[in-house]
Amino acid sequence: MSYNLGDYSEEVIEHYTNPRNVGEIPDADGEGNVGNPACGDVMKLTIKIENGRIVDAKFKTFGCGAAIATSSMVTELIKNKTIEEALEVSNKTVAEALGGLPAIKMHCSVLAEDALKAAIEDYRKKSGSGGENPPSRSTPKES
Ligand code: FES
Repeated sequence: MSYNLGDYSEEVIEHYTNPRNVGEIPDADGEGNVGNPACGDVMKLTIKIENGRIVDAKFKTFGCGAAIATSSMVTELIKNKTIEEALEVSNKTVAEALGGLPAIKMHCSVLAEDALKAAIEDYRKKSGSGGENPPSRSTPKES
């Protein structure tokens, strides 16, 4: 199968060439580490949350160009969103924001969605909350 650079939108190429928010937040509130079983590519997403809102997001992705571009775009899309709003961001949302991806590369955008969900889940576990509310002290514990 052959495909070339012309199969990618300008936005994909732009985010691949100049990825936003590369790195890792040292005192992150949530961290998502995910891998794509199909190709072995991996992504780490760290998020900072204040008052139920994502105030910062950074990524490190060891992967293909589409994975880098979707990682970059997801960090841009979730900044300043509430947890609930961020959970609405799917791999399709990210791909659409990039002007689309070739069908053969759509699976790469799943990495971004999975990392986002994992980072939010990690935040919820650490904070002991449902995310939208302050941590509850009356959460029943199972013994
Ligand atoms: Fe692995 Fe794109 S080929 S995420």
